Amino acid sequence: MHPHYPLTRLRRLRSHSHVRDFFRETRLALDDLVLPIFVEEDSDDFTPIAAMPGVRRIPERKLAFEVERLARAGIRALMTFGISHRKDAQGSDTWSCDGLVARMIRTCKDVAPHLVILSDTCFCEYTTHGHCGVLHGEHVDNDATLVNLGRQAVVAALAGADIIAPSAAMDGQVAAIRSALDENGFDATAIMSYSTKFASSLYGPFRAAAGSDLRGDRKAYQMDPMNRREAIRESLADEAEGADALLVKPAGACLDIVREIRNASALPLAAYQTSGEYAMIKFAAAAGAIDEGAVVREMLGAIKRAGADRILTYFADDIAAGRLAL
Ligand code: PBG
Ligand code: ZN
Repeated sequence: MHPHYPLTRLRRLRSHSHVRDFFRETRLALDDLVLPIFVEEDSDDFTPIAAMPGVRRIPERKLAFEVERLARAGIRALMTFGISHRKDAQGSDTWSCDGLVARMIRTCKDVAPHLVILSDTCFCEYTTHGHCGVLHGEHVDNDATLVNLGRQAVVAALAGADIIAPSAAMDGQVAAIRSALDENGFDATAIMSYSTKFASSLYGPFRAAAGSDLRGDRKAYQMDPMNRREAIRESLADEAEGADALLVKPAGACLDIVREIRNASALPLAAYQTSGEYAMIKFAAAAGAIDEGAVVREMLGAIKRAGADRILTYFADDIAAGRLAL
């Protein structure tokens, strides 16, 4: 029994639905969400991704049409991922002015200039070995990769990206990208780094979706999911390097980390509901085990309640299209 009962009756605020709604603490809106999209070059058809029911690779030739649809449906922000057919050892297509990264961004910006475009800045979809940088023997060379991250960021900014989102998990990536952008006149282009990025098992479906050819794992550069203190150090290090916004990935398995970073930094904070989190909900709903809409609202709500200002989620398309209500 509450010590102040019967004076305090916590049920008062929830006994009628209109009063309950009035006192709701956390609200979700389409404006909170970023939709990640997969764009495939040299392709004519939308390709369904088996492990992510409802998500399809967009053929580059139909990207303009698709972005127009998404913008009209009320999507506010997109994160672009390319499926490359021009891979090499370093992922050099990413810093070509006519490469897939640049073309995707230009197309999005041509069609919908007011859509916020976040450019995932990494190499794993563009390297033959599937790692997120330059490989020397077994190891990804941190500092050689920084040079290439700078090149890619400048090309993305030139193409019109609003936000550079480095996901390579290299030490010093924010500082390297910030100085490359500034040296090239892009001091107004923001950086939202994947500042706490775990080597999570929840990225499985993404690797198939994005056509990453990785054998092995990324544990030598992405973080051990069991480490809480290090997770905070990583995000604070990116803030000190000049990040404009922070990002935690994955989201649902890291709500404690989201809250702690929220308390430790005043920067805008995003969390990424990953492909694995999406797949678990979709397959459980398809099996009749859960109510998809209710679970999506609860999971996204929990991520926001934990302290995320923005959420990257593949459900943003279903929500914008009215197939799911918030
Ligand atoms: C690229 C990148 C990945 C994801 C986002 N950016 C893959 C990875 O780090 O292995 C995962 C997104 C998801 O699972 O939805 N580095
Ligand atoms: Zn990568």
